Amino acid sequence: MGISARQTENGLSTSKRVPAGRREAFKLKALHDFTSCLSRARNFDESLHLALMVILGTCSIVKGALFIEENGEFRLRVSRGLPPGIPPVEKSRELVAALRRSSRPIPARRQTVSGPVRKAVDDIERAVPAFRVDHLCSLTTRSGSFGILVLGSTLTGDALTPMQRETLGVMTSILSTHIANHRVVADVSRLNEILQVQVGENERLLEGMQEIFLDTIRALAAAIEAKDPYTRGHSERVAKISVSIAKGLGLPEEDVQAINIASILHDVGKIGTSRFILSKPQPLTPAEVREIQKHPRTSFDILSEIRFPYPNVAILARDHHERLDGSGYPEGKTDRQIPMGARIIALADTFDAMVSDRPYRDSLPLLVALGRLRDCIRSHYDLGVGRIFFQGLRREIAGEPKEAPVFTTRSMRYSPEEALCFIDGALKELD
Ligand SMILES: [Fe+2]
Repeated sequence: MGISARQTENGLSTSKRVPAGRREAFKLKALHDFTSCLSRARNFDESLHLALMVILGTCSIVKGALFIEENGEFRLRVSRGLPPGIPPVEKSRELVAALRRSSRPIPARRQTVSGPVRKAVDDIERAVPAFRVDHLCSLTTRSGSFGILVLGSTLTGDALTPMQRETLGVMTSILSTHIANHRVVADVSRLNEILQVQVGENERLLEGMQEIFLDTIRALAAAIEAKDPYTRGHSERVAKISVSIAKGLGLPEEDVQAINIASILHDVGKIGTSRFILSKPQPLTPAEVREIQKHPRTSFDILSEIRFPYPNVAILARDHHERLDGSGYPEGKTDRQIPMGARIIALADTFDAMVSDRPYRDSLPLLVALGRLRDCIRSHYDLGVGRIFFQGLRREIAGEPKEAPVFTTRSMRYSPEEALCFIDGALKELD
């Protein structure tokens, strides 16, 4: 069944009858060409250019222009057969309303064309006197009016066939969605850029705040070390070793940060211990031992008053002298009662204390300290923590990591060959 292509609406005519099958084939090919040119384009401008060319070719139209909405007016974006510099078309409320009412191409010469459309056509023709507008197509979706497609007369001067009008209607609908999608992508991209800038600023602010926070924490630790000169630098070294072990165990970042702070401040409770006890070179009396053993709980009391951005800092400091077999203090906790962070700090604290000078003894040689540690890993500390400790120390002595030393930051009187041999043996025992 065919359809008459004769048109009367603009006084031009064709007289062929086109079979329905050929009409559908024409429409499908045109739409295929159109959608593939949109997807093939390397950028938005190229997609608009290709879209206009396919539309003009499909409808055998020589001249045409695509105006895209920008800052409240429709601005010429791409054209064929027209001079550059066509002024923008005002995007009035009346024109938008008229465009929204027309999902199909609007014949511009028709007597019944609405006033706002007539004005837009007149403005364009006034700017380009050699251009006669035959059709104006609205590029509109439910989310807005994105542009207008202005078409001149066909090559033969004939009116568009119903098939061409129908195909043109579908193409403008696809083009409208294409432009709307581009707007969304552009908006998201713009928002993303703003967000990235904001995130960058926040990260810088946060880094600054963290530095201030850590400086405050270090100042607090320095106050303790001023009172107990034998522990000078001890807190920082314990923190470095603890963080290295925590990372080696794969603990979450916030736990690593909590362990770092708790390590720096684990002995802050010694502020309540007398200087005489802290620096006494002779063995402590039972009463003095009881006195010094109060410091983890005092650390807890002090740190509980601070709102740290990381969890359990005060608890980790309180439990850093607890031992798995219950022989520790202040509460004699056992096994799972002792948090992993406290087990890590306990081992790091003991190791650093052993290889440091104390009022009552000189520092121990590295292998002596490691031997003592190895012998009580299972009873006092934690098998996994012990393995990571020995592995990290081994890598450092073997010169594997390029970073600054963590475990061997001071002179420890050892031969690297002997130390590596000893550590390999210890790791076998801990397997
Ligand atoms: Fe302590």
